[in-house]
Amino acid sequence: MEEELLMIPGPVPVIARIREAMAKPMITHRGDEFSQIYGEIVENLKNIFQTRNDLFVLSGSGTCAMEAAVGNIIKRTNDAGKTEMRCVTIANGKFGERFTEIAERYGADVTPVHFEWGHSIELERVKEALENSPTPKVVTMAHNETSVGILNPAKEVGKLAKKHDAIFVLDCITSIGGDNVPVDEFGADIAIVGSQKCLGMPPGLAALSISERAWELMEENPSRPYYQDLVAYKKSYKKKQTPYTPALPLFFALHEALEIIKEEGMAKRIKRHRTLSKSIRAAVTSLGLSLFPKLNEVSDYSNTVTAINMPLEKGITDEQLRGGMRKKGVVVSGGQGELKGKIFRIASMGNITSTEILRTIEVLEQVLMENKFIEEEGKGLEAAKGVISFS
Ligand SMILES: Cc1ncc(COP(=O)(O)O)c(C=O)c1O
Repeated sequence: MEEELLMIPGPVPVIARIREAMAKPMITHRGDEFSQIYGEIVENLKNIFQTRNDLFVLSGSGTCAMEAAVGNIIKRTNDAGKTEMRCVTIANGKFGERFTEIAERYGADVTPVHFEWGHSIELERVKEALENSPTPKVVTMAHNETSVGILNPAKEVGKLAKKHDAIFVLDCITSIGGDNVPVDEFGADIAIVGSQKCLGMPPGLAALSISERAWELMEENPSRPYYQDLVAYKKSYKKKQTPYTPALPLFFALHEALEIIKEEGMAKRIKRHRTLSKSIRAAVTSLGLSLFPKLNEVSDYSNTVTAINMPLEKGITDEQLRGGMRKKGVVVSGGQGELKGKIFRIASMGNITSTEILRTIEVLEQVLMENKFIEEEGKGLEAAKGVISFS
């Protein structure tokens, strides 16, 4: 069966070396071989996170680590299950809002600082919310808001968090491994990555880094979750083990994926991601399509996923565009939630190359031509190739 080309923001295509690593025989997770693999994974991830903080790998998807971060910090303190912990949740898309839902579920006193999806974060509103929230407090944000293709101002929010003595939880699920994410320089107390995104892995693992300040809150919190108890992870890591049985085949794959990243080098990898996303932006705008995010001076287009307005005004529907591309073997994402049918998204994450990008643009042009949005094919490819060959 011919494989579809997956150009969605996770799961991304997984190259053979990583797939084959999963076929290794099982080992005991309480032995030296696992400890060595896990130790190397952690050291390699710390380099990619650019952090000196502790770091652990959880057997679960990105949301598992988001919940672990919030759930370990939020202490339930009274009979109503309410906590003294305030949580300022910044959001301009689905994943930022997910933190609001998690924090509410854990009983935090939540101040949502929500913006229209795809609009930029205004720092003034974040500052105001932080000034008005007594400590202890947490501030959460998605660095790369995948649902709308925008890169949020992590450094600036990190500075505000520090100034207002807030614990900064940063979802870097679709930025770490593809973009420059200096976690310590951003002042992120907890930073999270998901396996099926820029690391080029299958889904099923997430990793998170934890600062000393965050540990102080977690260690004195008796209502930490059980399975995602990060203090248990810290204790087990003394022997380079995990508290419960890890998803071994995925750990083998992650070990290999990180070797591949080392071979490429992070600087080159970031440049590749930036070039490929820039080439997609150049291609789609040259075809007369428009980009969805509304930028301000502190935001940018995502370097790992491009969100494009569906040309509804020309009568082209989601079914025609994405359905048409899929029939030709290329899968791109639609809009989520309120953006369903209104945007489409092309990912450029992981071990993707210019070949896959050019194939995607070629198929997009074919579909736009079939639907009479363009009169000739080639402009998009030419624009993308121009960016790629200049880099
Ligand atoms: C920015 C961001 N945060 C969180 C998630 C949720 O991750 P998962 O689906 O792995 O639980 C995603 C998934 O696409 C994401 O892009």
